[in-house]
Amino acid sequence: MPEVDKEGKDFSLEKQAETEGFFLKGSNSLDWGMKNRLARIFNPETGRTVMLAIDHGYFQGPTKGLERIDLNILPIAPYADTLMLTRGILRSVVPPSYNRAIVLRASGGPSVLKELSNEQIAVDIEDALRLNAAAVAVQVFIGGEYETQSVHNMTRLVDTGTRYGIPVLAVTAVGTEMKRSARYFRLACRICAELGAHYVKTYYIPKGFESVTASCPVPIVMAGGKKIPEPDALTMAYNAVQEGAAGVDMGRNIFQADSPAAMIQAVSAAVHKNLPPQQAHEMYLDLKNQK
Ligand code: R5P
Repeated sequence: MPEVDKEGKDFSLEKQAETEGFFLKGSNSLDWGMKNRLARIFNPETGRTVMLAIDHGYFQGPTKGLERIDLNILPIAPYADTLMLTRGILRSVVPPSYNRAIVLRASGGPSVLKELSNEQIAVDIEDALRLNAAAVAVQVFIGGEYETQSVHNMTRLVDTGTRYGIPVLAVTAVGTEMKRSARYFRLACRICAELGAHYVKTYYIPKGFESVTASCPVPIVMAGGKKIPEPDALTMAYNAVQEGAAGVDMGRNIFQADSPAAMIQAVSAAVHKNLPPQQAHEMYLDLKNQK
């Protein structure tokens, strides 16, 4: 039997216990595990995240820049706050000692050869837990051929995610025939949030992006999209966070850059330190030339 200690007497009666509000928009009523996972994705000091998206292979195979994830991505992965990827790549390539948050691609089905909106849930929530995922990500095709099915994928993941404390990232997927307007993104993001997504990934648009972030009650992260010149991508990331995004989820504009390592550090400075685009680009060039 251990010796029994005396009862404590210091109750600091003059100090009230603090009730901390949660730092992320629209997330205060979530449960502890869900908040804890979100606090691994989003930096609590800045309220923002730099997610590195490398999940492209789930529908388009070995994408340029992702041919060898062990060689191309692992060296830059520590600069990300969060890595977004499939369970196949996570298990086969990423060492378990990697300690950044993992967002697991949880929908899939069709390849680039077929109708992309015809997705289904592709990961069981138990496997997401087993992999210690901080969130699961699902594509939502508002206006797409299989719109209802993709929304249903999301709502089922929200239900199972809520049961186990795993947040759901809804990714608004835009068909090539659709117009990328503020009106479309307000519609798509709001539907995702109303139906339970814990945060939403969507594209930046130069006109009206702040109305997209304002009308979405949960955090938005900006999608990167096709590769554009580095100064433009840094401007886009900077503008997105200035206009209300809680960070970025970028893939090709990082791993297809001339220097992916320099690019992810410059993006991170734009996102977390509000470094203006020109200075962020100078930082990019300095880091690139150091190499
Ligand atoms: C697609 O819609 C997926 O989520 C992508 O595979 C990826 O996340 C896109 O990233 P990016 O457009 O920045 O290359």
